[in-house]
Amino acid sequence: MSSLGESAAPTPAGIYDYMLGGRHHTAADREAAEQALAAAPEARAGILANRAFLQRAVRYTAERGVRQYIDLGSGYPTAGPVHEVAAEKVTDPRVVYVDYDPAVVALSRQVITAPAVTAAVYDIRDPERIIASPEVAGLIDWSEPVAVVMVALLHFISDEEDPARIVAAFRDRMAPGSFLIASHVCFGENPEGAQQGAGSWNRATSRVTIRTREEIGSFFIGLALASPGLVPVQQWRADGAAPQGEAMILGGVARWGRDGLVR
Ligand SMILES: C[S@@+](CC[C@H](N)C(=O)[O-])C[C@H]1O[C@@H](n2cnc3c(N)ncnc32)[C@H](O)[C@@H]1O
Repeated sequence: MSSLGESAAPTPAGIYDYMLGGRHHTAADREAAEQALAAAPEARAGILANRAFLQRAVRYTAERGVRQYIDLGSGYPTAGPVHEVAAEKVTDPRVVYVDYDPAVVALSRQVITAPAVTAAVYDIRDPERIIASPEVAGLIDWSEPVAVVMVALLHFISDEEDPARIVAAFRDRMAPGSFLIASHVCFGENPEGAQQGAGSWNRATSRVTIRTREEIGSFFIGLALASPGLVPVQQWRADGAAPQGEAMILGGVARWGRDGLVR
């Protein structure tokens, strides 16, 4: 049963929420998600692993003193959102959630009551507008470390829309001690399934561009990737024994500074 109205086109947020086992999806979202899962059944495990990666990565940056977060393409508020995970490690984290889907932002505003946390509708294809927005200007001090979160987001940006330009707009504002947390769909072990699965997402409001490891790695240029580097999300600093093998989603966390691997 959906908690939303039934819109004609599936949305990335609704498909993702359905796969995560949430409640915020329409019939169109469910149909597109089931088609994607039929082509690539491993997608559901990949998405659960992606969400767990986001939480471990936020904990990692909060343990290194980051108190400010911009979560871009944040999706429906679901278990373990950024502000709650960061608050395990730092007092009163400041968090701006951004999504281009007004339904996502409306629900986020409804359920989030923490101080110094806000949600706003912006499209990351206009990063300067986000940086200049009253929400970011009101909560984020760019002279202090900030973590910019782009988890399961940049594959919704086509090559023509230039995802590297979007990353650079945020990276160029960062103070020392800042981080980029990002994950992205790649071809993995089942390239045909990944491509077919992406075809189902492509009926949604944004198409999916699957990229190679090299292309995804290039988004971290100018930053220092934290160990273990750009890896399948389920392997990134996994608690306990990390499942091996290639995943459909690669993730990494990089610190402001020169290229190279930091421990
Ligand atoms: C797959 S969900 C990921 C949610 C969350 N980041 C996570 O990993 O758990 C992608 C989200 O990005 C949002 N999104 C896609 N393209 C966007 C854009 N151009 N600007 C802002 N948000 C976008 C979608 O609405 C959706 O909520």
